[in-house]
Amino acid sequence: MSDFVSLERRGSVAVVTVNNPPVNALGAGVRQGLVSCLEQANADTEIDIIVLLGSGRTFPAGADITEFGKPMADPDLHEVILAYENSDKPVLAAIHGTALGGGLELALGCDYRCGSAAARVGLPEVKLGILPGAGGTQRLPRLIGVEAALKIIVSGDFVAAGKALDLGILDHIVDGDLVDGAVAHARSLIDDGKPRRRIRDMNAEAPPELFDTFEKSIARRARGYLAPFKCIEAIRGAVELAFEEGMANERKLFIECMKSPQSAGQRHMFFAERQSAKVPDVPKDTPLRTIAGAGVIGAGTMGGGIAMNFANAGIPVTIIDIDQQGLDKGLGIIEGNYAATVKKGRISQAEMDQRMGLISGALDYAALAQVDIVVEAAFEGMSLKKEIFGKLDAVCKPGAILATNTSTLDVNEIAAATGRPQDVIGTHFFSPANVMKLLEIVRAGKTSAEVIATTMKLARKINKVGVLVGVCDGFVGNRMLHGYFNEAQRLLEEGALPHQVDKVLYDWGFAMGPLAVMDLAGIDVGWRIRKEKAASRDPDQPYSSTVADRLAEMGRFGQKTRRGWYIYQEGSRVPQPDPEVEDMLKQVSKEKGITRRDITDQEIFKRCMYQLVNIGADILDEGIAMRSGDIDVIYVYGYGFPVFRGGPMFYAERVGLKQVYDDIAKFHEIHGVTWRPSALLKRLAEEGKGFNDL
Ligand code: CAA
Repeated sequence: MSDFVSLERRGSVAVVTVNNPPVNALGAGVRQGLVSCLEQANADTEIDIIVLLGSGRTFPAGADITEFGKPMADPDLHEVILAYENSDKPVLAAIHGTALGGGLELALGCDYRCGSAAARVGLPEVKLGILPGAGGTQRLPRLIGVEAALKIIVSGDFVAAGKALDLGILDHIVDGDLVDGAVAHARSLIDDGKPRRRIRDMNAEAPPELFDTFEKSIARRARGYLAPFKCIEAIRGAVELAFEEGMANERKLFIECMKSPQSAGQRHMFFAERQSAKVPDVPKDTPLRTIAGAGVIGAGTMGGGIAMNFANAGIPVTIIDIDQQGLDKGLGIIEGNYAATVKKGRISQAEMDQRMGLISGALDYAALAQVDIVVEAAFEGMSLKKEIFGKLDAVCKPGAILATNTSTLDVNEIAAATGRPQDVIGTHFFSPANVMKLLEIVRAGKTSAEVIATTMKLARKINKVGVLVGVCDGFVGNRMLHGYFNEAQRLLEEGALPHQVDKVLYDWGFAMGPLAVMDLAGIDVGWRIRKEKAASRDPDQPYSSTVADRLAEMGRFGQKTRRGWYIYQEGSRVPQPDPEVEDMLKQVSKEKGITRRDITDQEIFKRCMYQLVNIGADILDEGIAMRSGDIDVIYVYGYGFPVFRGGPMFYAERVGLKQVYDDIAKFHEIHGVTWRPSALLKRLAEEGKGFNDL
């Protein structure tokens, strides 16, 4: 017995139960308890089979990630699994919740595995930048075949119990109470005289070309990643090497991955994402409001995408638009999106019908009288937003959450247009809103804790990663993006070309380079906003136009006009360099008196990346973001920042804030005001500290 693992006798069946909430991670205490309970069960002459399970919500969901990078206390997980594999008496793993990583590997060291119908299994290590390091790459292919194991291990995706049964990961599904069912099943294994079954004694076979073919099939998706390819290499070892050698090979590859900066970045993201759900001044027990019905203002692309999120989560939603035509068009686009998903086989026709059934349209705000939340997704414009919020204030029931999807405007000012600013919050979705995982949740000065807690919970329900931020122009993501885009343009004025800038960032791991992103988003969008702002600007601070404005003036609005920073062939999204743009850039340089020069890839990289970091540091300093990890989560989930780099702030910490600051200070000397170093960055650099020390 230990604090973490208990042993109970049920007739001749020993039940070993792991008890280490919340997810029964296999920390040192659990590992020790597992071995000692096994020894006791084996020593007990009355026992003829052992059942291994987890208490609470799950079978062990993996190794304890917080132990990574530190010396491992004995016994290590290998030794534990070997002890179960070599147990004198047969062992049945009984799985509920999620048997993941080291948890599933432990179960694979057992003779048999049963599970509840709602159980899920998986080897998600690849998502932490590592590979299953406790025999998973050797045992799973032996048990279920190489191709199926490749798919599971390289994707890291969870497998539901029914499929796990089909594949042979589970041998039996338990109905009703897991412990009773598992004990009865264990008894039947003995009564039926089922033989011992060690997976290590099985063979893994595959045609040699399978691995190359598989590698090619993931090449695009896994671009820049290390771990997926190391997983494949380890699984190849299961086919080509004897078990012990395959295990040694897995160990070697595991350590290589574990020591990689990629794994450090991905592990940082794992914890940063979970941390971002916590708001220090909004305690866990803050009362939550029920969200059983929603409204969306605006049937445009954004509004439609937002409405789909509600319908996907089973929440009925009413979309309001100003005219029937707009409404019909918006509903038609939603239907088309769902139909495309059905065609791809991702949802069934019945699911589509059910979701469409939850979406209705109306022209009159009165249709929103009973909803629990309204998300306004109308055009950006303060007077329009104020008018809408005034109307919502008049029709919505008390306690309804009034949210705005604005990406730039002051949520405090919008809230002030109502008599209930405590119920007003920003919910900044990213386009396409039904796909992108990020939700920037903007807390205004008077937003209540209840409204924050409910909106954060809602984010999870609609399958988003919600990050709470404060009010400023562009909030966190777009404010940083602004500096990054502008720097990319300054590089163009100084001598770089669009494809050179984009290639540097793309090769580093970004989903797209900054100029390709601008083409996708539409060059005209920023141009119009800048013009509007320029009109209301202080005349003493004249507006200095950007090179993107010049592009817009040429009618080059990006992909939508098939011309932007690049030229696009009819029906293609592949950017091609365009000499007309190069000519325009040369002309702009000339007009500004800039002598164009060769700019190195390293300079391009640093100038784009450090803009993000410098503005990110200002944002932290101002308290607009609560933690540097929140900024990283925003960039990875909303802006195509490579997860294996851990986010811009994490990346800067790895480089060293002193080094980053010195470079920024140098850029400041050369390029002036746009490189004013963040005071926080300066202070941390001088004190030898990191963002995490805050
Ligand atoms: N180690 C340590 N802590 C863990 C953990 C782990 N393996 N898995 C989850 N936690 C912690 C989380 O950090 C979180 O802590 P806080 O409440 O303090 O934030 C808490 O458990 C609950 O986690 P979630 O908020 O994620 O809860 P959930 O119900 O949404 O999801 C889960 C549960 C599906 C298990 C999810 O936590 C998860 O995917 N965990 C990671 C699983 C994993 O990657 N396992 C492999 C580990 S690596 C390994 O095993 C290596 C090897 O081969 C030896």
